[in-house]
Amino acid sequence: MPSSSRAPSRPEDGFDVVLIGIAARGLAASARRAGLRALAFDLFADEDTRALAHGVVRLRRKQGFALDPDDLLEQLARHVGPDTPVVLGTGFEDAPGLVARLAGLFRVAGSGAAALARLKDPFAFARLLGDLDIPHPRIFTDRAPAGMHALEKRIGGSGGGHVRRAAEPRGEGWYLQEFLEGHSVSVLFLGNGRAARLLAFSEQWCDPGEDAPFRYGGCAGPIQLEETLVQQVAGALSRLTGAVGLKGLASADLILHEGSWHLIEVNPRPGATLDIFDAPPLPPLLRLHLDTCAGGLPPLPLLVPGAGVEARAAGVFYAPAATVMRDALPGWVADRPAPGTRIAAGEPVCTVRATGRDIAEARAVLARRMNHLSRALGTAGRAAAAE
Ligand SMILES: Nc1ncnc2c1ncn2[C@@H]1O[C@H](COP(=O)(O)OP(=O)(O)O)[C@@H](O)[C@H]1O
Ligand SMILES: [Mg+2]
Repeated sequence: MPSSSRAPSRPEDGFDVVLIGIAARGLAASARRAGLRALAFDLFADEDTRALAHGVVRLRRKQGFALDPDDLLEQLARHVGPDTPVVLGTGFEDAPGLVARLAGLFRVAGSGAAALARLKDPFAFARLLGDLDIPHPRIFTDRAPAGMHALEKRIGGSGGGHVRRAAEPRGEGWYLQEFLEGHSVSVLFLGNGRAARLLAFSEQWCDPGEDAPFRYGGCAGPIQLEETLVQQVAGALSRLTGAVGLKGLASADLILHEGSWHLIEVNPRPGATLDIFDAPPLPPLLRLHLDTCAGGLPPLPLLVPGAGVEARAAGVFYAPAATVMRDALPGWVADRPAPGTRIAAGEPVCTVRATGRDIAEARAVLARRMNHLSRALGTAGRAAAAE
């Protein structure tokens, strides 16, 4: 089947794996690296996703950047049979019901609805972390105690755009979490339902948008952390994996502060750090995901900086102004919108990638590339959007 949006295909077309997410390009790249024929479903059907996957179906976008369950189920029924493994990426954080439905219809390879529900209900999650003796911030359903810095978060939110400082949650569906001083770090790990294996740590940063001070910016890695901390996190994530039945690739967000750490979030799915870690010396991450979902847990050492390990950085480039994609984007850009695509101010345009001998160099190259795009799209894009 050619890589075209909503191209007709039949289940017997012979794909090895089905990928679904808000943006499936990272998973499609991993499938390509693993030698798997992928059928990708996402909201963008970007040019590189089309080149990497063997088929791409563009899904209808619901308010913001949400998947529309009706459209998703309709498209899957049309294109996917019951035997092909289905891998879920971003976009299911607030939809355990939809994940359960998909699992009843297709061969979903991943953690499943029950795990998602426990990780994404902040109250159940905090209780679970307490029971497992895993350090975590306190959470509140109404006002934070006097003098405490707190963040307001939306239950099931993702991408950081819903997080801001507040003294009181605005209402139903929102909660407060104690603000912790420190550095944001994420760890990519594998779970086989019983134990976890850490693959690599990365640093993460925010790229504040209008009224969104904690909007996701990017990540860089691998980074090296103290051995005792690594062991503590590995133990904690193994306990959590066993308790929840985590399967496949997942990531945990941590805040580090002077040798101590807190777990703030677990995303039970492949995520943004595919962009920096799906490269040698690590084997194809989608292959690891499928193998661990089947119960294995490969004896891979933690990836750390050193000889033969390139430092990588990847960040989201948000449109500085309303833009119509005109000229070809540079080769270091991923998630490449097709020419003619209209992008509103503040929406993600693409992902910028960079490498270096160390993290500092990779991040410096990334920053220069971001500036280059800002200049190029800030003028040309604005002019085109005004036409
Ligand atoms: N309790 C906290 N203390 C300090 N910073 C936090 C806290 N919670 C979140 N953050 C910051 O906000 C970012 C987004 O928060 P997170 O809970 O991961 O949101 P999302 O689920 O949308 O990814 C984190 O990566 C971190 O930088
Ligand atoms: Mg997060």
